[in-house]
Amino acid sequence: MTSIPLSRPVVDDEIRHAVLTALESRQYILGPESKAFETEFAAYVGTEHAVLTSSGTAALWLVLRALGVKPGDEVLVPSHTAFPTVEAVCFAEATPVFVDVDPWYGFDAADAALKITPRTVGIVPVHLYGQPVDVAAMMDLASRFGLWVLEDCCQAHGARWGDRRVGGFGRAGAFSFYPSKNLTVMGDGGALVTNDGEIAARARRLRDHGRLNKDVHAEIAFNLRFNELQAAIGRVALRRLDAGNARRRALAARYRENLAGLPLALPVERPRGHHVYHLYVVGTPRRDELASFLRDRGIATGIHYPVPGHRQPAVEHLPWVALPATERVVGEILTLPMSPGHSEAEIDAVAQAVREFFGG
Ligand SMILES: Cc1ncc(COP(=O)(O)O)c(C=O)c1O
Repeated sequence: MTSIPLSRPVVDDEIRHAVLTALESRQYILGPESKAFETEFAAYVGTEHAVLTSSGTAALWLVLRALGVKPGDEVLVPSHTAFPTVEAVCFAEATPVFVDVDPWYGFDAADAALKITPRTVGIVPVHLYGQPVDVAAMMDLASRFGLWVLEDCCQAHGARWGDRRVGGFGRAGAFSFYPSKNLTVMGDGGALVTNDGEIAARARRLRDHGRLNKDVHAEIAFNLRFNELQAAIGRVALRRLDAGNARRRALAARYRENLAGLPLALPVERPRGHHVYHLYVVGTPRRDELASFLRDRGIATGIHYPVPGHRQPAVEHLPWVALPATERVVGEILTLPMSPGHSEAEIDAVAQAVREFFGG
């Protein structure tokens, strides 16, 4: 029987060598590998600064704190996202205000505009599944209402709007390097990027106990630092990112061809967006039946995400909101296997099984 995982990170000799070299260097926290990774990652995204941290959630929180978010401030976030997007807003003591999805599973700027109040300070659009949100609409909304933008790029390393990579459009962007991501450090890790020197400096201080120097602490913060072994892996992964994204796009094109004509919603690319297919998400009202049919054939699937942010018990104290598009899509979405480590034969086997399910 076949066994096809959702994603398969590549481990090879170049990565093993990078880890062992960092190990032998005897510098383990925020040393030369981390500094080089920050410089290279900022150059890749096209921003002046990158600040490594312990996770994507930490990157979001560091930016929110550096922006001076405070209790009573409202921040517009999509409900259809990984919960950490919402959690970071809550942890920074602001109030999340939930926004519905547009037809691309992205941040609906028109719905967001209706939810702005005098307390709204910023927006956290999420480039979900590897597809940029409508960046023009997002930036227009921000400038019309004087809001800052923090791009959640945790699923969109290398995605572009026009010829610019996501992360550099807003005041800052946050990335995750979790194992399944397009750029991974084989563990937890993250980074924020920005052109704002003050945000970068404050985030560096906040990730290291609010330190001004070795002995003096200017504010209460936390330990959210990064380490050399994972920076060494990240540098190798960054060099491979564009090739990995091109491979994902080729596999997505293969799915599109093999799944054409079925009663199944396939990913639709925005005309100006460059989708990097962190996740390959299809839609059908028969989602649960399809998932179990595939599971019986050794094919892993996922649901990203079955419980939207506004329905999470952790935020049940917030006012009830109606998000009809979000409520509909969470019942229909299904993530199929996708990563540069998958073979064409595996993608064909998944597509064949989906065709069988629909009797084709
Ligand atoms: C959209 C989104 N935001 C935030 C995060 C949080 O990243 P991390 O798991 O590195 O904290 C993730 C990762 O799961 C994510 O997919």
